Amino acid sequence: MRNYSLSKRVLVTGGAGFLGSHLCERLLALGHDVLCVDNFFTGTKDNIGHLLGDWHFELMRHDVTFPLYVEVDEIYNLACPAAPIHYQFDPVQTTKTSVHGAINMLGLAKRIKARILQASTSEVYGDPKVHPQTEEYWGNVNPIGLRSCYDEGKRCAETLFFDYHRQHKLAIKVARIFNTYGPRMHPNDGRVVSGFIVQALRNDPITIFGEGTQTRSFCYVDDLIEGLVKLMATPEDVIGPVNLGNPGEMTVLELARRIVELTGSRSRFVHKPLPSDDPVQRQPDIRLARQALGWEPSTGLDAGLQRTIDYFRGRIGAS
Ligand SMILES: NC(=O)c1ccc[n+]([C@@H]2O[C@H](COP(=O)([O-])OP(=O)(O)OC[C@H]3O[C@@H](n4cnc5c(N)ncnc54)[C@H](O)[C@@H]3O)[C@@H](O)[C@H]2O)c1
Repeated sequence: MRNYSLSKRVLVTGGAGFLGSHLCERLLALGHDVLCVDNFFTGTKDNIGHLLGDWHFELMRHDVTFPLYVEVDEIYNLACPAAPIHYQFDPVQTTKTSVHGAINMLGLAKRIKARILQASTSEVYGDPKVHPQTEEYWGNVNPIGLRSCYDEGKRCAETLFFDYHRQHKLAIKVARIFNTYGPRMHPNDGRVVSGFIVQALRNDPITIFGEGTQTRSFCYVDDLIEGLVKLMATPEDVIGPVNLGNPGEMTVLELARRIVELTGSRSRFVHKPLPSDDPVQRQPDIRLARQALGWEPSTGLDAGLQRTIDYFRGRIGAS
């Protein structure tokens, strides 16, 4: 039985995307009314089709670079393409989505006195000189490179969140999300986990950029969503930024080998030059999340990869 006294009206921008669709699912399961807003740039109706029959779920096609007038209690601002090939497709629109999108959602939150959470990113640390990255680190970001539309857009969005908090006493939460993977990732977005799995399932050559010695930390989507929901539920004085990710670090080559093993693939490895501004090392320090949210990832890499492989097997019809 739904408990109306605890139920909230929650807006999820970018709700038809990879993370957004899992977040909508989780919020519905918690008994909330969910309004999913998306312009379907990278998100799809397939990601949320199974939710459309739920009376408590509502879908609105809308671009967050334009103002939005709705009545909700909480806002999760996830709208923004996250994969380099997607955010570099129209870099001006990417910056607009982060910056105008933040201004519009913060303006909405201010008007209706809603709590608002920003899906920021580990990319605000750029190519970090501090390892692992703590929230105090200011980052090492190229302001004029190919990735800057995303990195600087997200940094500016954080600035706006903190200024709305200081200037207008808005209840904000900023999560710095590190690499997350799982079912509903885009099959062709060039990100390592999805890319390697699709190539492995098709027995195609697996593309490794550089020597594959660059490290990444991979968080399973269910863990990440739990972190976002816990952060939203913290007392008003917990505003972040809070790193959310899995501190288990591995090289890209190790990940590729693991995926080949789990899929039983016959794929070989091919090496290509590193893209510009590709970070060498990325690993979250999650002490703050552990202490302030009582959160840490609990899904092991093999378990998470297996669920993701099963999803892609179904999607691309590979055996
Ligand atoms: N997946 C990760 O590993 C990761 C890591 C760090 C940060 N993040 C952040 O989390 C959020 C979600 O990422 P994701 O991996 O689910 O990406 P995604 O591309 O799957 O989802 C983004 C969603 O936003 C929508 N969108 C884009 N521009 C929009 C606009 N102007 N108006 C309305 N909707 C718009 C897209 O259609 C899509 O549904 C992003 O803000 C991203 O920066 C993700």
